Amino acid sequence: MTATVKIKALVAGNWKMNGLKASAKEVKALSRLISKSAKKAKCDVLICPPATLIPALKEAAKGSKIAIGGQDCHAKVSGAHTGDISAEMLKDAGASYVIVGHSERRADHAETSEMVRAKVEAAHRAGLVAIVCVGETDAQRDAGETLSLIRAQLAGSLPKGITAKNTVIAYEPVWAIGTGRTPTADDVAKVHAAIRSALKKRFKVEGEAMRLLYGGSVKASNAVELMGVPNVDGALVGGASLKAADFNGIIAAYR
Ligand code: PGA
Repeated sequence: MTATVKIKALVAGNWKMNGLKASAKEVKALSRLISKSAKKAKCDVLICPPATLIPALKEAAKGSKIAIGGQDCHAKVSGAHTGDISAEMLKDAGASYVIVGHSERRADHAETSEMVRAKVEAAHRAGLVAIVCVGETDAQRDAGETLSLIRAQLAGSLPKGITAKNTVIAYEPVWAIGTGRTPTADDVAKVHAAIRSALKKRFKVEGEAMRLLYGGSVKASNAVELMGVPNVDGALVGGASLKAADFNGIIAAYR
């Protein structure tokens, strides 16, 4: 018997290197927009600001369903790693999630899947949910390498024994990030089906229940279509998460 697993979607915002203390007003506005809406959003909501803003945004989100997360963490608990932040520090500041292996970190900081796996382990050690990003570049897509690349990134980036509760996967084609270009619904369906099947094979029921986000130029105008694709259980949103009204327009796909 194959029972269909019911998965609660997650709409996550990645503010990247944007935002100052005054940006807490966007979280307050989002909290009002979410609670004012006649139809309640049936998804979890997360904002990952720069680490400097985690305490202020956690405070601004008080009383709402908005969770706060980090954008990266070091693999170690503490030590001589100038400029780095540990998963334990993010947790202490008010985070409950952390994004790891974003393509901008893989590209700008030469992060390998092996390093990403150590960060996932660090996130779990600290009690954070890890959002693990995978995705192909334009050249890899043109070369027909998308699925093999993504399977390799998953195999290398995911440690043993992860669960649907402590890990989320985000498929983000590098060429779709910040470009306004998105894959077709069919293309997203193919990749997400391949991710689901790889996760089921390795993590069994946990892989079946794990949330798979799509990310890359998600906005209110394409959210309903992209979020309706089979095996898409939410979104990882960059640019359109910075303003409460825009982000709420994406969350609305789950009302
Ligand atoms: P974008 O970024 O929504 O601005 O394309 C997505 C991401 O990098 O997570």
